[in-house]
Amino acid sequence: MKVLAILYKGGEAAQQEPRLLGTIENQLGLREWLESEGHEFIVSDDKEGPDSVFQKNIVDAEVLITTPFHPGYLTRDLVSKAKNLKICITAGVGSDHVDLNAAVDAGIEVLEVSGSNVVSVAEHVVMSILLLVRNFVPAHEMIERGDWQVSDIARNAFDLEGKVVGTIGAGRIGYRVLQRLRPFDCKELIYYDYAPLPDAAAKAVGARRVADLKEFVAQCDVVTVNCPLHEGTRGLVNAELLKSFKKGAWLVNTARGAICDKDAVAAALKSGQLSGYSGDVWDVQPAPKDHVWRTAKNPLGGGNGMVPHYSGTTLDAQARYAAGTRSILENYLKGTDQEPQNVIIGRKGYETKAYGQR
Ligand code: NAI
Repeated sequence: MKVLAILYKGGEAAQQEPRLLGTIENQLGLREWLESEGHEFIVSDDKEGPDSVFQKNIVDAEVLITTPFHPGYLTRDLVSKAKNLKICITAGVGSDHVDLNAAVDAGIEVLEVSGSNVVSVAEHVVMSILLLVRNFVPAHEMIERGDWQVSDIARNAFDLEGKVVGTIGAGRIGYRVLQRLRPFDCKELIYYDYAPLPDAAAKAVGARRVADLKEFVAQCDVVTVNCPLHEGTRGLVNAELLKSFKKGAWLVNTARGAICDKDAVAAALKSGQLSGYSGDVWDVQPAPKDHVWRTAKNPLGGGNGMVPHYSGTTLDAQARYAAGTRSILENYLKGTDQEPQNVIIGRKGYETKAYGQR
Protein backbone atom coordinates (compact mmCIF):
# COMPACT_ATOMS: atom_id res chain seq x y z
CA MET A 1 0.00 0.00 0.00
CA LYS A 2 1.27 3.45 -0.85
CA VAL A 3 0.72 6.11 1.80
CA LEU A 4 1.40 9.73 0.85
CA ALA A 5 1.75 12.37 3.57
CA ILE A 6 1.94 16.12 2.95
CA LEU A 7 3.30 17.79 6.06
CA TYR A 8 5.17 20.99 6.83
CA LYS A 9 8.93 21.36 6.86
CA GLY A 10 10.24 21.50 10.40
CA GLY A 11 13.92 22.20 9.64
CA GLU A 12 16.30 22.57 12.55
CA ALA A 13 13.41 22.91 15.02
CA ALA A 14 12.11 19.46 14.08
CA GLN A 15 15.56 17.91 14.47
CA GLN A 16 15.92 19.44 17.91
CA GLU A 17 12.33 18.81 19.01
CA PRO A 18 11.05 15.31 18.22
CA ARG A 19 7.61 16.24 19.55
CA LEU A 20 7.15 18.33 16.39
CA LEU A 21 5.39 15.29 14.99
CA GLY A 22 3.47 17.04 12.22
CA THR A 23 6.64 17.76 10.23
CA ILE A 24 8.26 16.04 7.26
CA GLU A 25 11.18 15.18 9.54
CA ASN A 26 9.21 13.45 12.29
CA GLN A 27 6.48 12.09 9.99
CA LEU A 28 3.74 11.75 12.62
CA GLY A 29 5.86 8.95 14.11
CA LEU A 30 4.48 6.61 11.45
CA ARG A 31 7.46 5.55 9.30
CA GLU A 32 8.86 2.67 11.32
CA TRP A 33 5.45 1.12 11.87
CA LEU A 34 4.22 1.54 8.29
CA GLU A 35 7.44 0.17 6.81
CA SER A 36 7.52 -2.76 9.22
CA GLU A 37 4.07 -3.64 7.87
CA GLY A 38 5.48 -3.56 4.35
CA HIS A 39 3.91 -0.30 3.19
CA GLU A 40 5.50 2.43 1.11
CA PHE A 41 5.48 5.82 2.89
CA ILE A 42 6.17 8.99 0.90
CA VAL A 43 6.43 12.18 2.95
CA SER A 44 6.94 15.67 1.56
CA ASP A 45 6.06 19.34 1.90
CA ASP A 46 6.30 19.80 -1.88
CA LYS A 47 2.68 20.26 -2.90
CA GLU A 48 2.21 22.90 -5.61
CA GLY A 49 2.19 22.29 -9.36
CA PRO A 50 2.12 19.19 -11.56
CA ASP A 51 5.75 18.28 -10.83
CA SER A 52 5.35 18.42 -7.06
CA VAL A 53 5.81 15.27 -4.98
CA PHE A 54 2.15 15.59 -4.00
CA GLN A 55 0.75 15.68 -7.52
CA LYS A 56 3.16 13.07 -8.89
CA ASN A 57 2.37 10.55 -6.15
CA ILE A 58 -1.35 11.13 -5.78
CA VAL A 59 -1.98 9.19 -9.01
CA ASP A 60 -1.32 5.81 -7.35
CA ALA A 61 -1.44 6.50 -3.59
CA GLU A 62 -4.06 4.54 -1.64
CA VAL A 63 -3.95 6.75 1.46
CA LEU A 64 -3.42 10.50 1.61
CA ILE A 65 -2.53 12.12 4.92
CA THR A 66 -2.38 15.87 4.99
CA THR A 67 -2.19 18.42 7.72
CA PRO A 68 -4.33 21.58 7.56
CA PHE A 69 -1.27 23.57 8.59
CA HIS A 70 0.36 22.90 5.21
CA PRO A 71 -2.45 21.45 3.15
CA GLY A 72 -2.08 19.40 0.02
CA TYR A 73 -5.09 20.79 -1.87
CA LEU A 74 -6.93 17.82 -3.33
CA THR A 75 -8.98 19.48 -6.06
CA ARG A 76 -11.64 17.77 -8.18
CA ASP A 77 -9.09 17.57 -10.98
CA LEU A 78 -6.61 15.75 -8.73
CA VAL A 79 -9.35 13.48 -7.40
CA SER A 80 -10.05 12.40 -10.99
CA LYS A 81 -6.37 11.50 -11.41
CA ALA A 82 -6.11 9.69 -8.07
CA LYS A 83 -7.34 6.36 -9.36
CA ASN A 84 -6.12 4.31 -6.42
CA LEU A 85 -7.08 6.68 -3.60
CA LYS A 86 -9.39 5.17 -0.97
CA ILE A 87 -9.01 7.36 2.11
CA CYS A 88 -7.89 10.88 3.00
CA ILE A 89 -6.88 11.46 6.59
CA THR A 90 -6.57 14.95 8.00
CA ALA A 91 -3.87 15.04 10.66
CA GLY A 92 -5.81 17.59 12.68
CA VAL A 93 -9.29 19.07 12.25
CA GLY A 94 -10.74 20.74 9.13
CA SER A 95 -10.84 18.80 5.85
CA ASP A 96 -11.74 21.60 3.46
CA HIS A 97 -8.42 21.15 1.62
CA VAL A 98 -10.13 18.13 0.05
CA ASP A 99 -12.86 18.85 -2.51
CA LEU A 100 -15.37 16.96 -0.39
CA ASN A 101 -18.08 16.76 -3.05
CA ALA A 102 -15.55 15.33 -5.50
CA ALA A 103 -14.50 12.80 -2.85
CA VAL A 104 -18.15 11.74 -2.43
CA ASP A 105 -18.49 11.32 -6.19
CA ALA A 106 -15.31 9.24 -6.35
CA GLY A 107 -16.17 7.10 -3.31
CA ILE A 108 -13.16 8.32 -1.33
CA GLU A 109 -13.52 8.38 2.45
CA VAL A 110 -12.40 11.48 4.36
CA LEU A 111 -11.60 11.34 8.06
CA GLU A 112 -10.16 13.76 10.54
CA VAL A 113 -8.95 13.47 14.13
CA SER A 114 -11.97 15.20 15.65
CA GLY A 115 -11.37 16.94 18.92
CA SER A 116 -7.59 16.55 18.72
CA ASN A 117 -6.79 20.25 18.84
CA VAL A 118 -10.03 21.96 19.83
CA VAL A 119 -8.79 23.10 23.23
CA SER A 120 -5.59 24.38 21.59
CA VAL A 121 -7.65 26.54 19.23
CA ALA A 122 -10.16 27.67 21.87
CA GLU A 123 -7.29 28.93 24.03
CA HIS A 124 -5.85 30.78 21.05
CA VAL A 125 -9.22 32.37 20.34
CA VAL A 126 -9.53 33.69 23.88
CA MET A 127 -5.97 35.01 23.68
CA SER A 128 -6.72 36.66 20.32
CA ILE A 129 -9.86 38.32 21.64
CA LEU A 130 -7.95 39.69 24.60
CA LEU A 131 -5.00 40.91 22.58
CA LEU A 132 -7.29 42.85 20.24
CA VAL A 133 -9.62 44.27 22.88
CA ARG A 134 -6.70 45.26 25.12
CA ASN A 135 -4.60 46.63 22.18
CA PHE A 136 -1.70 44.38 23.16
CA VAL A 137 0.33 44.11 19.94
CA PRO A 138 1.05 47.84 19.43
CA ALA A 139 1.87 48.10 23.13
CA HIS A 140 4.47 45.36 22.86
CA GLU A 141 5.87 46.79 19.63
CA MET A 142 6.25 50.16 21.36
CA ILE A 143 8.31 48.56 24.11
CA GLU A 144 10.57 46.80 21.60
CA ARG A 145 11.12 50.10 19.78
CA GLY A 146 12.31 51.69 23.03
CA ASP A 147 9.33 54.07 23.23
CA TRP A 148 6.91 54.73 26.13
CA GLN A 149 3.68 56.61 25.45
CA VAL A 150 0.87 55.08 27.50
CA SER A 151 -1.87 57.29 26.04
CA ASP A 152 -1.16 56.10 22.48
CA ILE A 153 -2.07 52.58 23.60
CA ALA A 154 -4.73 53.31 26.21
CA ARG A 155 -6.78 55.40 23.75
CA ASN A 156 -7.81 52.16 22.08
CA ALA A 157 -7.66 49.64 24.95
CA PHE A 158 -10.80 48.24 26.58
CA ASP A 159 -11.94 45.56 29.02
CA LEU A 160 -13.60 42.39 27.79
CA GLU A 161 -15.96 42.61 30.76
CA GLY A 162 -19.29 44.06 29.68
CA LYS A 163 -18.84 43.28 25.97
CA VAL A 164 -21.04 41.05 23.82
CA VAL A 165 -19.09 38.16 22.30
CA GLY A 166 -20.56 35.93 19.61
CA THR A 167 -19.35 32.80 17.87
CA ILE A 168 -20.24 31.77 14.34
CA GLY A 169 -20.33 28.02 14.90
CA ALA A 170 -20.88 26.54 18.34
CA GLY A 171 -19.37 23.11 17.82
CA ARG A 172 -16.39 21.68 19.66
CA ILE A 173 -14.24 24.81 19.40
CA GLY A 174 -16.98 27.44 19.49
CA TYR A 175 -18.48 25.87 22.60
CA ARG A 176 -15.10 25.66 24.33
CA VAL A 177 -14.56 29.34 23.57
CA LEU A 178 -17.88 30.16 25.23
CA GLN A 179 -16.94 28.02 28.25
CA ARG A 180 -13.62 29.80 28.59
CA LEU A 181 -15.24 33.24 28.32
CA ARG A 182 -17.67 32.65 31.20
CA PRO A 183 -15.42 34.06 33.95
CA PHE A 184 -14.79 37.29 32.03
CA ASP A 185 -18.29 38.56 32.87
CA CYS A 186 -19.14 39.54 29.33
CA LYS A 187 -22.43 41.38 28.88
CA GLU A 188 -23.70 38.45 26.84
CA LEU A 189 -22.45 35.38 25.00
CA ILE A 190 -24.35 34.62 21.79
CA TYR A 191 -23.97 32.17 18.91
CA TYR A 192 -25.03 31.65 15.32
CA ASP A 193 -25.26 28.03 14.17
CA TYR A 194 -27.90 26.10 12.25
CA ALA A 195 -27.44 23.33 14.82
CA PRO A 196 -28.82 24.68 18.12
CA LEU A 197 -26.92 23.69 21.26
CA PRO A 198 -28.76 21.27 23.53
CA ASP A 199 -30.65 23.34 26.12
CA ALA A 200 -28.49 22.15 29.02
CA ALA A 201 -25.27 23.01 27.14
CA ALA A 202 -26.54 26.48 26.20
CA LYS A 203 -27.63 27.06 29.78
CA ALA A 204 -24.29 25.90 31.18
CA VAL A 205 -22.49 28.71 29.35
CA GLY A 206 -25.38 31.16 29.34
CA ALA A 207 -25.40 31.43 25.55
CA ARG A 208 -28.30 32.72 23.45
CA ARG A 209 -28.79 31.66 19.85
CA VAL A 210 -29.45 34.29 17.19
CA ALA A 211 -30.90 32.77 14.03
CA ASP A 212 -30.25 35.60 11.59
CA LEU A 213 -26.60 36.29 10.75
CA LYS A 214 -26.96 40.04 10.19
CA GLU A 215 -28.88 40.47 13.42
CA PHE A 216 -26.26 38.34 15.15
CA VAL A 217 -23.23 40.38 14.06
CA ALA A 218 -25.06 43.65 14.73
CA GLN A 219 -25.18 42.71 18.43
CA CYS A 220 -21.55 41.64 18.84
CA ASP A 221 -18.62 43.67 20.08
CA VAL A 222 -16.47 40.64 19.28
CA VAL A 223 -17.17 38.03 16.61
CA THR A 224 -15.23 34.77 16.59
CA VAL A 225 -15.47 32.39 13.64
CA ASN A 226 -15.52 28.69 14.53
CA CYS A 227 -17.32 26.88 11.71
CA PRO A 228 -15.81 24.67 9.00
CA LEU A 229 -15.17 25.99 5.50
CA HIS A 230 -17.73 24.67 3.01
CA GLU A 231 -19.95 26.02 0.24
CA GLY A 232 -22.16 27.76 2.81
CA THR A 233 -19.34 29.54 4.66
CA ARG A 234 -16.88 30.50 1.91
CA GLY A 235 -16.82 34.31 1.85
CA LEU A 236 -19.47 34.43 4.61
CA VAL A 237 -17.86 37.48 6.22
CA ASN A 238 -17.83 39.75 3.19
CA ALA A 239 -18.20 43.50 2.50
CA GLU A 240 -21.99 43.28 2.76
CA LEU A 241 -22.00 41.49 6.13
CA LEU A 242 -19.26 43.73 7.52
CA LYS A 243 -21.63 46.68 7.04
CA SER A 244 -23.93 45.06 9.64
CA PHE A 245 -21.14 44.75 12.22
CA LYS A 246 -21.09 47.22 15.09
CA LYS A 247 -18.74 50.06 14.21
CA GLY A 248 -15.35 49.25 15.72
CA ALA A 249 -16.04 45.56 16.42
CA TRP A 250 -13.24 43.03 16.74
CA LEU A 251 -13.13 39.94 14.53
CA VAL A 252 -11.21 36.74 15.29
CA ASN A 253 -10.96 33.96 12.74
CA THR A 254 -9.10 30.78 13.55
CA ALA A 255 -11.46 28.64 11.44
CA ARG A 256 -10.39 29.06 7.81
CA GLY A 257 -9.07 32.10 5.94
CA ALA A 258 -11.51 31.80 3.04
CA ILE A 259 -14.52 32.24 5.36
CA CYS A 260 -13.58 35.93 5.52
CA ASP A 261 -13.18 38.00 2.37
CA LYS A 262 -9.54 39.08 2.43
CA ASP A 263 -9.92 42.52 0.86
CA ALA A 264 -13.22 43.34 2.57
CA VAL A 265 -11.67 42.64 5.99
CA ALA A 266 -8.59 44.74 5.19
CA ALA A 267 -10.82 47.61 3.99
CA ALA A 268 -13.02 47.39 7.10
CA LEU A 269 -9.93 47.54 9.30
CA LYS A 270 -8.55 50.51 7.39
CA SER A 271 -11.81 52.44 7.65
CA GLY A 272 -12.25 51.64 11.35
CA GLN A 273 -15.43 49.63 10.75
CA LEU A 274 -13.39 46.86 12.41
CA SER A 275 -11.04 47.79 15.25
CA GLY A 276 -9.12 44.57 14.88
CA TYR A 277 -8.68 41.33 13.02
CA SER A 278 -6.82 38.38 14.45
CA GLY A 279 -6.32 34.74 13.68
CA ASP A 280 -3.99 32.19 12.18
CA VAL A 281 -5.70 30.97 9.04
CA TRP A 282 -5.15 32.25 5.50
CA ASP A 283 -6.97 31.69 2.23
CA VAL A 284 -3.88 29.99 0.78
CA GLN A 285 -1.17 28.49 2.96
CA PRO A 286 1.64 29.34 3.21
CA ALA A 287 0.37 32.93 2.84
CA PRO A 288 2.13 34.97 0.15
CA LYS A 289 4.66 37.50 1.46
CA ASP A 290 2.49 40.40 0.31
CA HIS A 291 -0.83 39.08 1.74
CA VAL A 292 -2.76 42.15 2.89
CA TRP A 293 -3.59 40.58 6.28
CA ARG A 294 0.08 40.56 7.23
CA THR A 295 0.17 44.33 7.55
CA ALA A 296 -3.44 45.62 7.62
CA LYS A 297 -3.98 48.07 10.48
CA ASN A 298 -6.81 50.16 11.94
CA PRO A 299 -6.61 53.99 11.66
CA LEU A 300 -4.67 54.12 14.94
CA GLY A 301 -2.00 51.76 13.63
CA GLY A 302 -3.02 48.66 15.59
CA GLY A 303 -5.62 45.90 15.47
CA ASN A 304 -3.60 43.20 13.73
CA GLY A 305 -3.12 39.94 15.63
CA MET A 306 -2.30 37.69 12.68
CA VAL A 307 0.11 34.76 13.08
CA PRO A 308 0.97 31.74 10.92
CA HIS A 309 -1.38 28.77 11.17
CA TYR A 310 -0.32 27.23 14.46
CA SER A 311 -3.11 27.50 17.01
CA GLY A 312 -4.06 23.84 16.58
CA THR A 313 -0.52 22.54 16.33
CA THR A 314 0.86 23.03 19.81
CA LEU A 315 3.10 20.16 20.93
CA ASP A 316 0.20 18.87 23.03
CA ALA A 317 -2.07 18.88 19.98
CA GLN A 318 0.55 17.20 17.77
CA ALA A 319 0.77 14.23 20.13
CA ARG A 320 -3.03 13.85 19.93
CA TYR A 321 -3.42 14.20 16.18
CA ALA A 322 -0.44 11.92 15.46
CA ALA A 323 -1.95 9.21 17.69
CA GLY A 324 -5.38 9.78 16.10
CA THR A 325 -3.96 9.52 12.58
CA ARG A 326 -2.36 6.19 13.45
CA SER A 327 -5.58 4.93 14.96
CA ILE A 328 -7.55 5.81 11.79
CA LEU A 329 -4.90 4.06 9.68
CA GLU A 330 -5.00 0.98 11.91
CA ASN A 331 -8.78 0.78 11.59
CA TYR A 332 -8.48 1.15 7.84
CA LEU A 333 -5.87 -1.59 7.58
CA LYS A 334 -7.83 -3.97 9.82
CA GLY A 335 -11.11 -3.13 8.10
CA THR A 336 -12.72 -2.25 11.43
CA ASP A 337 -15.24 0.56 11.86
CA GLN A 338 -13.89 4.05 12.33
CA GLU A 339 -14.83 6.20 15.34
CA PRO A 340 -18.04 7.88 14.07
CA GLN A 341 -16.99 11.35 15.18
CA ASN A 342 -13.93 11.19 12.88
CA VAL A 343 -15.86 10.42 9.70
CA ILE A 344 -16.50 13.40 7.43
CA ILE A 345 -17.15 11.39 4.27
CA GLY A 346 -17.92 7.72 4.75
CA ARG A 347 -18.65 4.97 2.28
CA LYS A 348 -22.08 6.43 1.57
CA GLY A 349 -21.19 10.11 1.47
CA TYR A 350 -21.34 12.85 4.11
CA GLU A 351 -21.61 11.44 7.62
CA THR A 352 -21.07 14.73 9.44
CA LYS A 353 -23.69 17.46 9.79
CA ALA A 354 -21.04 20.12 10.38
CA TYR A 355 -20.00 20.72 6.76
CA GLY A 356 -23.19 22.49 5.70
CA GLN A 357 -26.86 21.65 5.53
CA ARG A 358 -27.61 19.27 2.70
P1 NAI B 1 -17.30 21.01 14.84
O1 NAI B 1 -17.72 20.15 13.71
O2 NAI B 1 -17.28 20.45 16.23
O3 NAI B 1 -18.22 22.33 14.89
C1 NAI B 1 -18.49 23.10 13.77
C2 NAI B 1 -19.81 23.83 14.01
O4 NAI B 1 -19.98 24.78 12.96
C3 NAI B 1 -21.02 22.90 13.99
O5 NAI B 1 -21.81 23.12 15.14
C4 NAI B 1 -21.76 23.30 12.72
O6 NAI B 1 -23.15 23.15 12.81
C5 NAI B 1 -21.34 24.77 12.61
N1 NAI B 1 -21.55 25.32 11.28
C6 NAI B 1 -21.33 24.74 10.08
N2 NAI B 1 -21.70 25.57 9.09
C7 NAI B 1 -22.13 26.71 9.67
C8 NAI B 1 -22.67 27.91 9.17
N3 NAI B 1 -22.87 28.11 7.86
N4 NAI B 1 -23.00 28.88 10.06
C9 NAI B 1 -22.88 28.66 11.39
N5 NAI B 1 -22.40 27.52 11.92
C10 NAI B 1 -22.04 26.55 11.06
O7 NAI B 1 -15.86 21.57 14.44
P2 NAI B 1 -14.73 22.15 15.39
O8 NAI B 1 -13.90 21.05 15.94
O9 NAI B 1 -15.33 23.12 16.32
O10 NAI B 1 -13.82 22.91 14.31
C11 NAI B 1 -14.36 23.97 13.53
C12 NAI B 1 -13.36 24.40 12.48
O11 NAI B 1 -12.24 25.03 13.09
C13 NAI B 1 -12.72 23.26 11.68
O12 NAI B 1 -13.57 22.80 10.65
C14 NAI B 1 -11.49 23.93 11.14
O13 NAI B 1 -11.77 24.60 9.93
C15 NAI B 1 -11.13 24.94 12.22
N6 NAI B 1 -9.95 24.53 12.97
C16 NAI B 1 -8.85 25.37 12.97
C17 NAI B 1 -7.68 25.01 13.61
C18 NAI B 1 -6.50 25.91 13.65
O14 NAI B 1 -5.39 25.44 13.96
N7 NAI B 1 -6.63 27.18 13.36
C19 NAI B 1 -7.56 23.69 14.27
C20 NAI B 1 -8.80 22.95 14.33
C21 NAI B 1 -9.92 23.35 13.65
